Amino acid sequence: MDVDSALRQIEAAGSLEALQSLKVQYLGKNGLLTQQMKTLGSLTPEERRERGRQLNEAKGRLEAALEAREAVLREKALQEQLEKEALDVSLPGYAFPTGGLHLTSQILQELLDIFRRMGHSVVEGPEVESEFFNFDGVNMPEWHPARDMQDTFWLEKPENFTIRGPFAENVNDLGGALLRTHTSPMQVRYMIQHNPPFKIVVPGRVFRYEQTDASHEAMFFQLEGLVVGPDITMADLKGAITELARGLFGPEAKVRFQPTFFPFVEPGAQFAMWWAEREKWLELGGSGMVHPNVFKAVDDYRQKMGLPRAYEGMRGWAFGFGIERLALLRYGIPDIRYFYQQNRLSFLRQFRN
Ligand code: PHE
Repeated sequence: MDVDSALRQIEAAGSLEALQSLKVQYLGKNGLLTQQMKTLGSLTPEERRERGRQLNEAKGRLEAALEAREAVLREKALQEQLEKEALDVSLPGYAFPTGGLHLTSQILQELLDIFRRMGHSVVEGPEVESEFFNFDGVNMPEWHPARDMQDTFWLEKPENFTIRGPFAENVNDLGGALLRTHTSPMQVRYMIQHNPPFKIVVPGRVFRYEQTDASHEAMFFQLEGLVVGPDITMADLKGAITELARGLFGPEAKVRFQPTFFPFVEPGAQFAMWWAEREKWLELGGSGMVHPNVFKAVDDYRQKMGLPRAYEGMRGWAFGFGIERLALLRYGIPDIRYFYQQNRLSFLRQFRN
């Protein structure tokens, strides 16, 4: 065995694997040096001492060389790994695609914040409604021509139709099932379950069975407001709508009321907001003083349930308007159908918050 040649091989080993196989080749169980060690037994004592010393010295040199080379190779491997895994933190990152709130949600949040500041609670009602809450309870009995104002999606009433109303098990007939045409049924539901005074707003989806066009959708959102107490007046309504207008359009905003008809209010008024920046009036929605027949329907229902009548002598104001309509006017959006058209991300992304 040529020790010098072995040392050169070790010195030249290019990888830890190559080094390992050299170690096996010389010092392994059947390695060259090991084999020579095994021949010592056949020598005379003097020869053995001399040969043994040589072999031990060779073994020591090989081991030292292997160890030294291993340290070098390990260091090299580490350097390579560090280089490969190095992270240049100054490189630009990959953009992570994120979602955002739908424009309707953003506006609703803005509106609800304004009303929360005025002390209103936010409550929600079912989208599948009973005829009683959607119509009769808000002073639109079956024979009333005003029912034609809101074309209705009637539902086939399932055997076990459960979404019927507060304490409904005690009420014999709440009429047919439908998709609510406005958020006003929640006025009736809320008053049945709560005593005055109170202030609420009701956001939610409503449905109208009608031809869609640039300003009409079969599904849209409304915000309903209702305030009831012993001495609520129309001035309070005007104050609240003015506060809303200022919240939306700044301190310069003004409001305008024009008499109009809704069965559930008397007097009734449509309202518009003055957008000072653009110098234009935005016709937004309907409002008025709660009609005595609505209070009466609520109390009659309560009485049937064994609850005390609570709304005699009460007064209240209510309003309702479409959320998308507000957005259309404010952002100059040409077509309401953009809101819920499938995959119209190009539109929605313009309003990413
Ligand atoms: N419910 C009415 C509608 O959908 C709006 C409204 C609500 C009007 C409350 C007056 C008072 O058209």
